[in-house]
Amino acid sequence: MNTQILDISEFDENVLKRAQVFGEKEASDILKDTLSKIKVAAEIIKDGGLVAFPTETVYGLGANALDPDAVGKIYKAKGRPSDNPMIVHIASRKDVDMIAKPSPEDTKKIIDNFWPGPLTIILEKKELVPPTTTGGLDTVAIRMPNNFIALELIKMSGTPIAAPSANLSGKPSPTKALHVIEDLDGRIDAILVGSDSNIGLESTVIDLTVIPHMILRPGIINEKDLADCIGSDVDVDESLLMNDALSANDCDTPKSPGMKYKHYAPVAEMIVVEGRQENVIPEIERLKSINEKIGRKVGVIFFKGEDLETAAHNFYSMLRSQDDDGVDLIIAGAVDTSNAVGFALMNRMRKSAGNNIVRV
Ligand code: TXA
Ligand code: MG
Repeated sequence: MNTQILDISEFDENVLKRAQVFGEKEASDILKDTLSKIKVAAEIIKDGGLVAFPTETVYGLGANALDPDAVGKIYKAKGRPSDNPMIVHIASRKDVDMIAKPSPEDTKKIIDNFWPGPLTIILEKKELVPPTTTGGLDTVAIRMPNNFIALELIKMSGTPIAAPSANLSGKPSPTKALHVIEDLDGRIDAILVGSDSNIGLESTVIDLTVIPHMILRPGIINEKDLADCIGSDVDVDESLLMNDALSANDCDTPKSPGMKYKHYAPVAEMIVVEGRQENVIPEIERLKSINEKIGRKVGVIFFKGEDLETAAHNFYSMLRSQDDDGVDLIIAGAVDTSNAVGFALMNRMRKSAGNNIVRV
C-alpha cells in the first residue's frame, strides 16, 4: 500500500492564533493548506481507510469507529490482538450520548473539567458501537483530544474515530511523526505529519461504570485531580499500585485488556534501577561497566534534574533512539513517583523493561 504523507508540520497553535486573531497572510495560507490536507485525511476515514494523526498525548491511528471493517484494518496494520479495545475519539460532547448509555452524574463534571484533554472515560456502550471497536466488551472508552488537528479531523470525518497509538503493537508509542512513518509506512492509507506530541505519555483511563470510579491506566491526570473534581474517592487499579509492574499480567481478568500485553518495549533488553538516588547512580555505573566488559553496547536513560514533564515528553523517543543506535542493553534510572507525571512515567518505564527491575 502506498501511504500518503500529508505534511502539515508548518502548522502549530501559534499559526492558528496569527491567522485567526491577527489575520496574518502567511499564517492564513498555512492554515488553509493544513485544513485542505486534513480534509483529504477525513475523506479517507469516511471511505473506511486508516489515517495516523497527532494528538497531545501520542500519535493515533484512526478509523471510523462505527465501521467494523475499517476498525478491523487497525488491528491488522498494528498487529494488535483483537481483544484489545480501542479508544473512541470525539470532537463534541454531544457524541458521548450517541455512543454511550446515560452515564453516572459525575460524568458531566469530569467532562466539563478535563475535556478536551488527556483523559479517557469508560462508559456502557450503545448498540451503535460495533463489538470490533470495543474488543467485544459492553463498555466503550471515549476521549476528546486537546489538539486542533485531531479535532478538525474528527469533525470533518463526521464520525467518531477509533484510534489506538500509531505504533506497531508492542513498540514504544509514537511521539513524533517520524516514529509513525518508521512503524506504519506502507501499512496504512495516510499520515498527517504534524508536530511532536506535547505530553508524550498516553491518556489516563478511568472506568466510570464502577463506584468508586477506578483508574485503569495512569496518566498526567491522577486520582487526586479526579476526586477533587467530583468530590468523592477515586480508586486506582491495584495492579498499578503493586511494585510489580507487570502484575496486571497475573490477574485473572485484567480490567483494561491492553494492560496485559507487553507494551512500550524497545528491541534492546532493558533494566530499571529503582531506589534512593545515591544508590541508583553507582548501580547504573556498575551494571554498565560489567555489561560493557562482556562486549555489550549499553545505553543509559537517566533523568537528572529535568522536570518530569520534559522526561515524559522525551521518554518514548529516547527508547527508539537507543534502538536506532543498536544498543544491546538499556539501563534506566527510576524517577520520583510522588506526583502524577512521575507515577505514569514509571508505569511505562517498568512495562518497557518487561518488569526487569533492580532494587538498590
Ligand atoms: O492517549 C491516548 O489515549 C492515545 C491517543 C492516540 O489518544 N491512545 C491510546 O490508545 O493510548 P491505546 O489503544 O494504545 O490504549 C487504549 C487503552 C488500552 O489499554 C485498552 O485496553 C484500554 O485503553 N481500553 C479501551 N477500551 C476499554 C474498555 N472498554 N474497558 C477497559 N479498557 C479499555
Ligand atoms: Mg498503545
